[in-house]
Formats: sequence, C-alpha cells, structure tokens
Amino acid sequence: MVIKEAKFITSNTRADLCPQTELPEYAFIGRSNVGKSSLINMLTNRLKLAKTSSFPGKTQLINHFLINDNWYLVDLPGYGWAKVSKDSREQWRKMIMYYLKNRPNLACVFVLIDSRLPPQKVDLDFMELLGTMGVPFVLIFTKTDKQSGTKTDANIAFYLKTLQDTWEELPMYMKSSSATKEGRDEILQFISDVNQR
Ligand code: GTP
Ligand code: MG
Repeated sequence: MVIKEAKFITSNTRADLCPQTELPEYAFIGRSNVGKSSLINMLTNRLKLAKTSSFPGKTQLINHFLINDNWYLVDLPGYGWAKVSKDSREQWRKMIMYYLKNRPNLACVFVLIDSRLPPQKVDLDFMELLGTMGVPFVLIFTKTDKQSGTKTDANIAFYLKTLQDTWEELPMYMKSSSATKEGRDEILQFISDVNQR
C-alpha cells in the first residue's frame, strides 16, 4: 500500500471526543518507550508526524492520524513505566478502557513488544484484557535492529512458547525496526487486507 497522505487530526483524553467516523482505525499500544510513535512515523514515512522521545512517557493522549483519507492510525500513551504514580496509572487505565470500549471502528490493536526482552507481566496482562474484551490484536516485536536476527527469532520463539500457556490460539505477529524499516511492507499489507474485509 502506498501512503499518499498522513494528517494529524486530534489529540484527546476521551474516546468520545475523537473523530466520529466509520473509517477503520488501528491503534498502537505497548510499554512506554517500546517505539509506538516511531513506528507510526516509519509507516507513514514522516519523521515528525508522531512525537517521539528517548524518555518514556512522551505520548500522553490519544492521537488520531488520518491516512489517505481512508483509515486512521492511533498513537496511544504507553504503560508499564515504573516512575508513574498510582494516580496516573489509574488515569491511563480508565482512558484506555474507555477508548477500547467506545471505538466500534477499531479494526485492530497492534501490541508492541521490545524484541530483546523476555515476556513481561504488564504485556501479558494487557493481552489478556484485550482477549477478555474481544478486541482483535496482533503483536509487533520492535527494535529488531538492536540485535542479531538469530537472537530476535530465538526470543520470539520463547515468547510464543510462554503465550501458549494461556492462549489456545497464538496471536499473529510481525517484526519491526523503525531504523531499518523492517516490517513496513508487511504491516501496511496487513492493514490493507483488513481494510478490504
Ligand atoms: P511513549 O510515547 O513514551 O509511550 O514511547 P513510544 O513507545 O512512543 O516510543 P518512541 O517511539 O517515542 O521511541 C522511544 C525511543 O526508542 C526513541 O529514542 C526512539 O528513537 C527509539 N526507537 C524507537 N523505535 C526504534 C527502533 O526500531 N530502533 C531503534 N534503534 N530505536 C528505536
Ligand atoms: Mg509515543
């Protein structure tokens, strides 16, 4: 799929204030600093469309980007950052739950996982939440440029093995690097396929 246009539309804390639309949207979620905003920039070929930072906690709002006037990418604030207060964590939880429940046009959630890390409880818990809510999701293992392909593949195999303990059917997964653009074609193809369903 060719990205002809990518426009920032809104930043919100509330799903009901996000664009009222029937166009499909795809949300990026995962631990703070895992590379959600960078991946949106990589997919759209726009360096500064979504704001990124080397410090976790950069994205604080629900950000909608309209692509080709036809579908949305949604950048969400990350979870799992140790330095966040209990109150902020609760606010995040409320905002995300409300978002997940109130976007009937949500086609799929991309759950981003750092390809170098062993399975983290926060991520596994979040996937379970999505499963309980019946929200379709796929995994994206990020930052593959940071280690060898062999290591990444071994880590992913271990990850999937862990998931087998709780999931009857394993989620689909893809790999990505915002530095080398690995995964770009595959992710865009996936979106294009879902859009056509
Ligand atoms: P929050 O908004 O805080 O939740 O973080 P985020 O998940 O949006 O992460 P962001 O895209 O801001 O990236 C965090 C840091 O990781 C930045 O310093 C990025 O440059 C770096 N980064 C993101 N993706 C990649 C990648 O694929 N490869 C490498 N080498 N660095 C990356
Ligand atoms: Mg971000």
